[in-house]
Amino acid sequence: MSQVENSNLWWKNAVLYCLDVETFFDSDGDGIGDLPGLHEQIDYLAELGITCLWLMPFYPTPNRDDGYDITDHFGVDSRLGSIGDVVELIRAANNRGIRVIADLVVNHTSEQHPWFQAARSSKDSPFRDFYIWRSDPPPDTSAEVVFPDQEGSLWELDEQTGEWYFHRFYKQQPDLNIANPKVRDEILKVIGFWLQLGVSGFRVDAVPFLIETTGLTADAISGFGEPHDYLRSLRSFLNQRNGEAILLGEVNLAYQHQLKFFGSDGDELSMMFDFVGMQNLYLSLARADSEPVVNALKQRPSIPAQSQWATFVRNHDELTLDKLPPSQREEVFDAFGPEKRMQLYGRGLKRRLPPMLDGDPQRLRMVYSLLFSLPGTPVIFYGEEIGMGENLKAEGRSAVRTPMQWTSEKNGGFSTAPANRLHAAMATDGFGPAEVNVVAQRSDPGSMLAFVTRLIHRYRDCPELGWGQFEVIDQPHRAVLAHSCTWQGRAVIAVHNLGPDAVKVPLQVPDAAGQVLHDLFGGESCEVDASSATEIELEGYGYRWLRRYRKDDRRI
Ligand code: GLC
Repeated sequence: MSQVENSNLWWKNAVLYCLDVETFFDSDGDGIGDLPGLHEQIDYLAELGITCLWLMPFYPTPNRDDGYDITDHFGVDSRLGSIGDVVELIRAANNRGIRVIADLVVNHTSEQHPWFQAARSSKDSPFRDFYIWRSDPPPDTSAEVVFPDQEGSLWELDEQTGEWYFHRFYKQQPDLNIANPKVRDEILKVIGFWLQLGVSGFRVDAVPFLIETTGLTADAISGFGEPHDYLRSLRSFLNQRNGEAILLGEVNLAYQHQLKFFGSDGDELSMMFDFVGMQNLYLSLARADSEPVVNALKQRPSIPAQSQWATFVRNHDELTLDKLPPSQREEVFDAFGPEKRMQLYGRGLKRRLPPMLDGDPQRLRMVYSLLFSLPGTPVIFYGEEIGMGENLKAEGRSAVRTPMQWTSEKNGGFSTAPANRLHAAMATDGFGPAEVNVVAQRSDPGSMLAFVTRLIHRYRDCPELGWGQFEVIDQPHRAVLAHSCTWQGRAVIAVHNLGPDAVKVPLQVPDAAGQVLHDLFGGESCEVDASSATEIELEGYGYRWLRRYRKDDRRI
């Protein structure tokens, strides 16, 4: 692909930042973060260097599932602001070179959505068929529920009409019936609406569930057709409206099943989170052994040129370890969340990374350095850039959804409301605002914030990482991961020590003859001796990024 063509595919080496408006910055002192508050902080995000902001759901909601239960897909929750505020925010972000994507949650609605209210009012309602119903008692589906602490079945009896409706998530989130052409049209309208207001695409919630046909009648299934054709039609509609818009999908499946969601020609999801890589990264960290993550990366299928993996270490949900076999999951639990109160749903952890690593700054930086050097597009969750922790007393996944910590003051400068009126309590246990906040870190060149900012800027000037050919470089230390990403004659070579002991890594630099290695953080350069290995010294949890380029290459 030429330089000109590359520039269209902005997501190939973007830096995504995910936040929930509710917990970012409260401008009016009601205890709830809001859009004008986020707008006020846009320069913070610009300075950090992110290129795309992913907004978690900001639509009207009763908040049973932190906004993933929507009552109006065309609106903005009045606690957060107005549609006008969204447009102003997008404008402000775009002015700073930041694109905005929004959560597209159309697998289900809230039970309080007017469609569902109408649907449940009578079997004859014109909206009845917007949802999925059955008249005979459902089989036992308790093994399939997503939130086993709260739900026991995928079907809920609706007393009013005596039938059961289908819900993948909480019972307050009835699944939409995508076999109904009217529902499909509404979904297109939602996509069209937000694109028209300026978003550059969507993070698509729960994609495998969105296109599944479970619960539908045989007739409905045959009328609906092939689920992946449907996903392809969404992508095609999206790009007819806006050629550069993306669909970043949540598809937590094994690689071979996940691959299908990119589409054979890259014509379904533009990007997908690498859940398998993420889970194996934790196993590698727990063991101080690079093998699990190396194996995962080697098994990552190759994908169409315009598609991309989204890499991450944490998100707003539990740190799911569901793709690891039980014994490996236990290893990660033992290392990073041994107590029951740290675990969730039997498959994950309700923690952020810094407390899991006992606040070890060197180890924490190594993990983020690794994240940003992996092939793909990194996604960070608000607060990761300053090393925020969690609040284990908070219910379920709320533990990691505590307010952003701006200052060391009361409420971390997030809000002027009394602490008991905050939307969520602050993080605790040594990772609260007194210990971790933006203002203190901003003026400290040795801070986590300064480090992550540097990392983001480095990532941005290493297109090899988003675009390049990935290769693991053999070397003798189990604790070390050495890899290269090669693109257009240059490469970034990254070496990470997942263990606490210092190591000397003999590195056989691929294609070394006549090449120079330049340390992208340290600044020194050295010529590579092609006849022998180059020795790289790493301290415990050390990391290096080296650019390999030809001596006569004038780009730096
Ligand atoms: C996705 C979201 C999660 C939400 C669920 C239902 O998995 O990440 O937060 O609860 O979908 O919408």
